[in-house]
Amino acid sequence: MTDAAAPRRHAHITGWGRYAPAQVLTNADLERMVDTSDEWIVQRTGIRERRVAAAHETTASMAAVAGLRAIRTAGIEPDEIDLILLATLTPDYWMPSTAALVKEAIGNTKAAAMDVAAACSGFVYAYATAHAYVTAGLAKHVLVIGAELLTRFLDYSDRSTCILFGDGAGAVVLSAADEPGGGLGIEMTTEPQGAYMIWLPAGGAKSPPSAETIARGEHYIRMEGKETYRFATRTLASAALEAVRRAGLQPEDIDLFIPHQANIRIIEAVAKGLDLPMERMFVNLDKYGNTSAASVPIALAEAVNEGRVQVGDHIVIVAFGAGFTSGAVAIEWTADPARGVAGDAAVDPDDVHVRLPVDWDSVDPIPDALVALMAQPGPVDVPLDDVVPGEPAHASSEVPA
Ligand code: ACO
Repeated sequence: MTDAAAPRRHAHITGWGRYAPAQVLTNADLERMVDTSDEWIVQRTGIRERRVAAAHETTASMAAVAGLRAIRTAGIEPDEIDLILLATLTPDYWMPSTAALVKEAIGNTKAAAMDVAAACSGFVYAYATAHAYVTAGLAKHVLVIGAELLTRFLDYSDRSTCILFGDGAGAVVLSAADEPGGGLGIEMTTEPQGAYMIWLPAGGAKSPPSAETIARGEHYIRMEGKETYRFATRTLASAALEAVRRAGLQPEDIDLFIPHQANIRIIEAVAKGLDLPMERMFVNLDKYGNTSAASVPIALAEAVNEGRVQVGDHIVIVAFGAGFTSGAVAIEWTADPARGVAGDAAVDPDDVHVRLPVDWDSVDPIPDALVALMAQPGPVDVPLDDVVPGEPAHASSEVPA
């Protein structure tokens, strides 16, 4: 990658938003499905609960809510967006792109829209692409979304994967500006020797879906946990360091790192590797688990809305994922952090609709293992009026439903 320094224009984050489904899947719920324990999951991963999308929700619908919230936070109209980039490994369909469905759902008529496939690094890759479009003068406002519906691609008899993942969406608007700020340094890597360490074997051209592939469970996510862990601890730190170096900064100049939320032990190892205290690392994986491409933008929006990011701060978003991919962006924050809570409140998920195909008799998408859970009402979310930026209580960082 080339240095992101000296762009013709600067690409600032002007909007941010997130959405997570109301239904919570706790470690205690998982104890009833597989041979695991709350103690094992918390000690080995830091995860306490994750969210599960309801039957009427899809990757596109969650992405549209998060995207609209980011647009409201930016204070622009949906039609001012001229590019939509949606990072996901769980698209609604193979085609069309989920980004195309989101474009229609948010009421945009002019944007080009496409998906970005880089697994858990997808949002960072999409952000870097948006940065390039804006600074090259090809776009004025880009909507960058990370959205995943992973709970429909998990084998609920495999305790090594089903405990890790959850659903949700996060988004930012990147806008062109003459003033300095925004993305300062970018690093991205892809190491294909890790290609089969996390993969979903069937459904693609190599192994089209069939009764046989389904009988073998090849339509579920598979993972070599230890190899992935090793790659993650090495690459998160090195990608972050490189982005910081390209920005002309030192690690100690970074006010907050917003890492991919996969495992607390991985984040602790990165803090140690960078010789920084854990207070410089934002962590919310206890509430959402690993939401893949959605994890960084959900964490970013939550960090800002909690008052952890101020104008002039330097932050780093950094992720790793299947591929193996990794990426990091060092960013100078320039937007009023208080705008995010109002942006979230301005969009009611019930008002956002993704158009369905005509005469399409869809199957119930909820996995058998989750049917009983989904029959229960989700938790009552904190009223948005009660959410105060900077409030330390757990409630202040709840994602509004
Ligand atoms: N509950 C109880 N025991 C379990 C569970 C569970 N849920 N899962 C595994 N175990 C057992 C294993 O069977 C093993 O038992 P054994 O010693 O009798 O063989 C023991 O616990 C230890 O297993 P390990 O795999 O060695 O456990 P580890 O400490 O490595 O933790 C984990 C596993 C959490 C998966 C870790 O390796 C990890 O986080 N890896 C990275 C995964 C990741 O980040 N993936 C996302 C990639 S991003 C993307 O693009 C999708």
